[in-house]
Amino acid sequence: MSLLSSLATLTLFKKAPPPPPPSFSAFAFLSSFAKEEKGWSDVVFFLGILLLASIALLVILDVLSRTMLKSKRTPPLIDASIPIVGGMLEFLKGPMKLMAKAFPKHGEVFTVPVFHERITFLIGPKVSEFFFKAKDVEMSQKEVYEFNVPTFGKGVVFDVDHQTRAEQFRFFADSLKSERLRTYVGMMVKEADAFFEKWGDEGEVDLLDSLSELIVLTASRCLLGREIRENLFSEVTALVHDLDKGMVPLSVFFPYAPIEAHRKRDKARKELALIFDKVIQARRESGSLEPDVLQTFIDARYKDGSKLTNDQVLGMLIAVLFAGQHTSSITSTWTGLLAIANKERVMPYLEQEQQQIMKKHGTKIDFDVLAEMDELHYAVKEALRMHPPLIMLLRKAQVNFDVETSDGKKYTVPKGHICATSPAFAHRMESVFKNPNTYDPQRFKTDENKFASYIGFGAGRHGCMGETFAFMQIKTIWSVLIRNYEFELIGDLPEPDYEGMVVGPKHPCKIRYKRREKKKNGLMKSPSMMSKSKSMTSK
Ligand code: HEM
Repeated sequence: MSLLSSLATLTLFKKAPPPPPPSFSAFAFLSSFAKEEKGWSDVVFFLGILLLASIALLVILDVLSRTMLKSKRTPPLIDASIPIVGGMLEFLKGPMKLMAKAFPKHGEVFTVPVFHERITFLIGPKVSEFFFKAKDVEMSQKEVYEFNVPTFGKGVVFDVDHQTRAEQFRFFADSLKSERLRTYVGMMVKEADAFFEKWGDEGEVDLLDSLSELIVLTASRCLLGREIRENLFSEVTALVHDLDKGMVPLSVFFPYAPIEAHRKRDKARKELALIFDKVIQARRESGSLEPDVLQTFIDARYKDGSKLTNDQVLGMLIAVLFAGQHTSSITSTWTGLLAIANKERVMPYLEQEQQQIMKKHGTKIDFDVLAEMDELHYAVKEALRMHPPLIMLLRKAQVNFDVETSDGKKYTVPKGHICATSPAFAHRMESVFKNPNTYDPQRFKTDENKFASYIGFGAGRHGCMGETFAFMQIKTIWSVLIRNYEFELIGDLPEPDYEGMVVGPKHPCKIRYKRREKKKNGLMKSPSMMSKSKSMTSK
């Protein structure tokens, strides 16, 4: 699960509405019960009345907000035949379905009522500009992503004010400067070579399972550090797994609910803290300098000279790990699945590019060599366009703001609304990408790159900080694979699994691979391969 896995998806509202403060009479009633003046049946009766009254109040407010209190310029509310829960029911059927239903009727801007919250969808580049460009004091992430706090820990990311978070993200930016990235690419290549060596000459794998495994290995080396990768890998991976499984849809609403998944999450978080405390302390004492993200966080200093505690260093690492892990595994899987499913049309571009690059650089893969792989870059970008793992991005409006739709409708989105935009939906709009349902990496050769058209990595103020890292990692994987193997899809191209917090392909994602015959000069044979597969997919 990623920071934004977490971050993104279903998260309509981060928590259940806080219970209203007891009125004087309610308080008196409960205290009289405490003094044993009332029986259980009275309490049940009282609570029933309270519940009915609350529902009635919500219904009245809901009706008013649709009629008398609705300003002409507020966005249209979706039709929810049953007020209050109607919008929620629509939403629970899945945000993609909700958007598919509401968009044709209401257009790029509409509001979904969910309990006491209003979620305003801003779909497409024309209406999502403010969403992406606004300052944190205007559009805030904290309220909608705060449920990550038990996983990441206290004092980091969504548990601090905007300014502190900006400083913490500067620490992360420092760890991704280009000289650092060059070092990470070396680690990525080493991990990928060792990993695929074990594949042997031919076989079958589930691509998602396999690439997820590799990405955990690489992330451990680049982010968590040598000590973890070399000595504590399985222990830490098991704990990170428990943290990951501790993020279930319920956590978004009730992050502290007493359920088994949360209990395991909290235990894992404590055990990780013990492990990392020792590793970090040893580095602090020895003064050793390692080329990884862990080191950057240990060395980081706030403007006032203070540093992160050991637990906060761990919190930052978990946040970064979660931001990159599922997103990268899923995108590398779609990159392969789509290219293989369309191999007659797309693979020749990728294979010829690898051949040309190998002619020039031999078998070496490094930062600069990867940067020359334009065709592979387009293939990754197109896979992410068609299947962005973070299907919804969220903010809470801290100010009223205006939007104008492509057909000239003007609305004011009120302060307090949760705002949602959707890479998965917007990337499939004909007005944003021509033939949006056709897999066509070549479209990016002449990409116009209008702001917020391509939002697989977000955009603007909170655009993905790990984008280059992710491209380097996915391109490393697929350049090693394409150089060494030919592929075939087993079965059909999978559908996206919208049940997941981070949306990836449904299982199985099986492929068959076979090692290429090497030519005398060490380059691979030109494309030949196994049985032909379907071309052109619109999934
Ligand atoms: C293909 C892989 C990836 C995808 C699709 C992806 C997608 C995204 C998206 C959509 C956002 C914006 C969220 C929002 O606006 O609410 C984001 C932010 C972020 N990503 Fe990624 N990401 C990927 C890989 C990574 C990696 C590998 C890292 C770290 C090494 C990373 C670190 C971050 C961070 C720190 C942010 C927050 C930036 C901010 O709030 O200022 N991501 N990512």
